[in-house]
Amino acid sequence: MKTADLLITGGILVLPEGEVAADLVVRDGRIEGILAPGSEWATLEVIEADGLHVLPGAIDVHTHVRDPGLTWKETWTTASQAAAVGGVTTIFDMPNTDPVVANAEAVRQKIDVAAAQSCIDYGVYGVVIEDTLDQLLPMHEAGAVAFKLMLATDHARIPVPSDGAVLEALATLAAMGLRTTVHAENNQILRWREHRLRAAGRSDAAAHLEQHTDIAAVEAASRIALFAEWTGAKVHIAHENSRHSLPVIQAAKARGVDLTVETCPHYLLLSTEDGVRVGANAMRVKPPVREPGHAGPLFDALRSGLIDILSTDHAPHLPEEKRRASIWECAPGFPGVETSMALMLREVNAGRLTLSQYVRMACAAPARAFGLSRKGHLVVGADADIVLVDMTRRGVVTAAGLHSLGNLTPYEGFELHGMPVRTLVRGRTVALDGRPLSAVGWGRNVI
Ligand code: DOR
Ligand code: ZN
Repeated sequence: MKTADLLITGGILVLPEGEVAADLVVRDGRIEGILAPGSEWATLEVIEADGLHVLPGAIDVHTHVRDPGLTWKETWTTASQAAAVGGVTTIFDMPNTDPVVANAEAVRQKIDVAAAQSCIDYGVYGVVIEDTLDQLLPMHEAGAVAFKLMLATDHARIPVPSDGAVLEALATLAAMGLRTTVHAENNQILRWREHRLRAAGRSDAAAHLEQHTDIAAVEAASRIALFAEWTGAKVHIAHENSRHSLPVIQAAKARGVDLTVETCPHYLLLSTEDGVRVGANAMRVKPPVREPGHAGPLFDALRSGLIDILSTDHAPHLPEEKRRASIWECAPGFPGVETSMALMLREVNAGRLTLSQYVRMACAAPARAFGLSRKGHLVVGADADIVLVDMTRRGVVTAAGLHSLGNLTPYEGFELHGMPVRTLVRGRTVALDGRPLSAVGWGRNVI
């Protein structure tokens, strides 16, 4: 009889191509075998997965962990535990922490914090800013997995680079072969409109959407696709929220631009009409949740693969930071890592998505886009990052039930149908039945 560390029996494996009943064997943190059900192996541990689906762990390439520097909002411990409970086994962390991740030393500092705390695997983003273009290669050598480019932001220490600097950065990053995640909105349009709206005395929720007119996203998507085409850079458009961007994305892909695109559950499941019920402040996020008419085409594009990736833009803030009266003072963003998979499983149970489509957009596609060759697939040799899902389990989203420190969520009260019940990272169970297990520091950098 062959030996291994762990056998997961009786489950249904979900692959991008379909579902198959099979047993899964794990040794030394890797998938050692995928076998006909009932195979005889001598293992230290057996997980009975009868009635459950077995998925690769989700890979969320867009999260804001807040640590170092903003730890009242979130820490690596709380973010990674929330992710683990939610079925996420790898997160990429954005660079708008304190210090901003703009040089090799800041990359090292963040990796140190993540390594000490994270229970799941992680990637660290460096930021593209004009003053530190010479740091792109050193940041990668220090362990950054990818880069973030903000074409629009009001973050004082992340000034938007000139087009000249963007082109130079993309040429450098093309030579390094790394993908750049882009916040694709036109900064000048946003700043102008904010100025006008404020001057008119506007501080209501709708002003936020009026500021972020669709053309700001469409123009920036077109521009970054052109720059990527010109330089040969791999770019990834973050948090697509507008159906008007879809023809631009389609055209760029048809021309062969190495472009990937993500959207997030809030752009698929919410619209401005939810503002009254969930609270406009809870729902404030940049870019905004749009009026009805966008979610359907975005969901279609995600199903078809035109939008490649489902991420979350997990962006926790304390409830009091979000509940300020003026919309301009209301911190944008909300937690997402813990609820994303369950919200999408609800869509599967409602017949709007298949599990295989989910695995493609949440696991396989992000692994491929960012070069994580051992992740995102249930194949022999891959890391044993595995989620057991119970498609019959029901639950309700509540702030109190979330593990994130910034737990004000627009999904408060959402009824769930289908939930992750056990999460393994490289063969070790890090969350079970909605609770994180003590695996602090188990996580590793993906590069
Ligand atoms: O809503 C957002 N929140 N959008 C961003 O681009 C940044 C993020 C944050 O860090 O809070
Ligand atoms: Zn973000």
